[in-house]
Amino acid sequence: MASAIEVLGKQALKTFSDRRLCQKNLDKLLSLINKITADDVKLDKNILDYVSRQPAPMCVMDIFENKDITIAIFILKHGVRMPMHDHPGMHGLLKVISGMVELSSYSLKTKSDHVIKAKEEIAAVRHRPVCLDSNSAACTFTPTEKNLHEISCVEGPAAFLDILSPPYDVDEFGKGTRP
Ligand SMILES: [Fe+2]
Repeated sequence: MASAIEVLGKQALKTFSDRRLCQKNLDKLLSLINKITADDVKLDKNILDYVSRQPAPMCVMDIFENKDITIAIFILKHGVRMPMHDHPGMHGLLKVISGMVELSSYSLKTKSDHVIKAKEEIAAVRHRPVCLDSNSAACTFTPTEKNLHEISCVEGPAAFLDILSPPYDVDEFGKGTRP
């Protein structure tokens, strides 16, 4: 029998291999990711303790990547803030599986394929920050909605599963890889 993470991965591929997103596929993906637990990805206390002890503020565990999707687990030490970043032209799902994070999201008032340059000033709508733990439903963003965010670990170490489409390395707009 396929594991929960395999089933989730297959559904993510099905959902995002066609760039014209089908709501039915996305709904099924959301219902699967909402059931994913730390156990399903073999994230145990030993790994969380290791992340707490090593010097880096956070760790990333790559699970899968192809031309359509990236699946990874981010583990943040207690008190660490992942700085604000964008996902140009990308869709994303974020599901907390351990600890608690505060997610602050912004929707840009620019075109969805706009790649922000260093020190460029841009207008955005700020959304109310949300606290997420393993009981919370996954958060989503699209090329236009909540595409920018910062993530702070308020109860750590905290871990979240991230599905992005397309990956940062895919040159979708003919402008090279995403910064
Ligand atoms: Fe992100």
